Amino acid sequence: MFRPNFILLALGWALLQQVHLANAWPTPHQLSQWLPHFKSQRPQTQPDFARRNFETMSRIYNLTVYPNQLPILGGGGAAAPPGLFTQDVRGRVTPVGDFEDFEHSIEYFFSLSPVPQGNAVKGAITGYRIVEFSSQCPEIAASVVYLYCSVVDPGSPDHGRPLPALKQVAFWRFDSQGTVAYYDAWIPNLHSWVELTNGGVPVSDPQFQASSITQICTLTQLRCHGENRQWDSIEQCIADLSQKPYGNYDEAWGDNIACRSIHLVLTQVRPDVHCPHVGPTGGGKCVNAPYAERYFSDESLFGSPSGETFVCK
Ligand SMILES: *[C@@H]1O[C@H](CO)[C@@H](O)[C@H](O)[C@H]1NC(C)=O
Repeated sequence: MFRPNFILLALGWALLQQVHLANAWPTPHQLSQWLPHFKSQRPQTQPDFARRNFETMSRIYNLTVYPNQLPILGGGGAAAPPGLFTQDVRGRVTPVGDFEDFEHSIEYFFSLSPVPQGNAVKGAITGYRIVEFSSQCPEIAASVVYLYCSVVDPGSPDHGRPLPALKQVAFWRFDSQGTVAYYDAWIPNLHSWVELTNGGVPVSDPQFQASSITQICTLTQLRCHGENRQWDSIEQCIADLSQKPYGNYDEAWGDNIACRSIHLVLTQVRPDVHCPHVGPTGGGKCVNAPYAERYFSDESLFGSPSGETFVCK
């Protein structure tokens, strides 16, 4: 499992120069394959919105590739390049949650991208490819991206060994500048991916669960001080969390350990905001929201009825 350990973040910076990034930018030939209508309709006057939207998508996913996410991990939304998300962007990333502002969107898209120093296999996203893409009007696009993972451990024979890839399926709505205003994204099979990157150890393994709880408690005590403090002691935290269900990574939103293990990453970025999410109450994020609220809250999330947000008018 990708276990973040930002104490070692500085080491990550030292490794930057040595990391080989897969080139993710498609050739013009690939682009024409992925945009079948780009050429086939009105070739002389084809608007370039599809290409513009593709580029926004591409720039977003490029920032999940290690080490491109590190400035955002350190500096939050202020370190994000302009033009990707609007200031009041909102969206959903199933199975993690709803994100109701710019800072949350930035954090959940980029700060959760694994750093090699933070997990047992030294894995990170090292390349991406937008494998499916469609944009039939300037406001809307749909995409599927493969996020390729591999071992980042320069000097070791393991360096570059491919790890299981992640997939993200997403619908996007843009403002008039081609900046993302709303998104509805889904990472399928996250649970299997966690198990595979953890060497095939099932999440149900009691030792895995115990060490995950210990890690959450150790790092929470380390990062959440003063008003952000969640537990009296690591022992208290372990005792409390051991009473909660572990949960599963395909439905991580809940009052469980899987949810807290994801939100734990962000306690490093903004402890005041994220410490409560890993604490006893779940801080409104790791809580047992009803099914309909977790997956069908389009109206409150996007401000328009279901079926209105991601369609060309
Ligand atoms: C991806 O990020 C790298 C590093 O910042 C940059 O050199 C490259 O141009 C970017 N590619 C795209 C398609 O944005």
